[in-house]
Amino acid sequence: MDRTAQQPDALKGRIDVRLDALMTNGTARDGLVAQAMRHALTSPGKRFRPVVTLLTVQQFGGDVATAIDPACAIEMIHAASLILDDLPSMDDAARRRGLPTTHRLFGEDMAILASIALVTRAFAVVTATTGLANDTKLGITARLADAAGLAGLVGGQEIDLRCGPELNDRQALRELNRRKTGALIGAAVDIGLLVASVDGPRADKMRDAADHIGEVFQTVDDILDVTADQASVGKDVRQDGDKPTLVSVDGVAATRNGARFHMEQAVSLIDGCSPVAPALAPYLRTVFEPHLDG
Ligand code: IPE
Ligand code: IPE
Ligand code: MG
Ligand code: MG
Repeated sequence: MDRTAQQPDALKGRIDVRLDALMTNGTARDGLVAQAMRHALTSPGKRFRPVVTLLTVQQFGGDVATAIDPACAIEMIHAASLILDDLPSMDDAARRRGLPTTHRLFGEDMAILASIALVTRAFAVVTATTGLANDTKLGITARLADAAGLAGLVGGQEIDLRCGPELNDRQALRELNRRKTGALIGAAVDIGLLVASVDGPRADKMRDAADHIGEVFQTVDDILDVTADQASVGKDVRQDGDKPTLVSVDGVAATRNGARFHMEQAVSLIDGCSPVAPALAPYLRTVFEPHLDG
């Protein structure tokens, strides 16, 4: 049992250590696919989704140690999605997390295999988690599958890649963001709730908060695509090009206002759950507020 409240940086450190261990235990280290998996997974990302899971567990007094492997599984799905997103047939990106993208280092063939292997590894990690009831593992598995599949990431990417002028309105863009980005963030919160055995009105509030967090997250990413330089974000910028985004529809200033609104909604819903260890809302402010000024 591990119910001592820890700060986000400490939780991120624990996730990094565990991701590294999960890539050396149970996987062949020397093959190209294993190297590509390691590259995509252990390169320096923010670990936003797994940190959100652990902070959700912590804020309801759950056992953080039990949640680490499911949280790492979410990061595996995320890393798998980034490999695919960067491929020449998708965003054709050269840099990710300050490093060459996986396909640029290992070739498209190995990158695609690494993405599939990260998804399957994610589910293997959930099923092997100790200290969780089988029902809980089943719930986590279902939640991850939903978020990764057609209703979530895959469906969102389809819209993103094949969108036409019909995407040029806020409702359609929200649907895109909800699936492309919000679904996995929603799963991150939900999995935290499952591990901490939280249900009822508090869980409903947290799920509503997760929707707002997803909105802020993708909105800030779109803002950075037009305002940041590659060195500061560590990945290709001006990627959105002619693609409609909230920024191209509303402009940067109005989009920032919208993001601030979603941020405040998220924080007030989280605070409304009377957290025992209230670190999630301050973490969100730390992550997003630097991008919402101006
Ligand atoms: C990038 O996600 C992809 C989006 C959904 C916008 P992150 O901004 O979390 O990327 P990393 O994991 O920190 O590299
Ligand atoms: C990525 O969306 C979302 C995924 C599901 C991978 P973007 O294409 O907007 O994200 P970045 O800017 O490449 O990280
Ligand atoms: Mg993309
Ligand atoms: Mg991209």
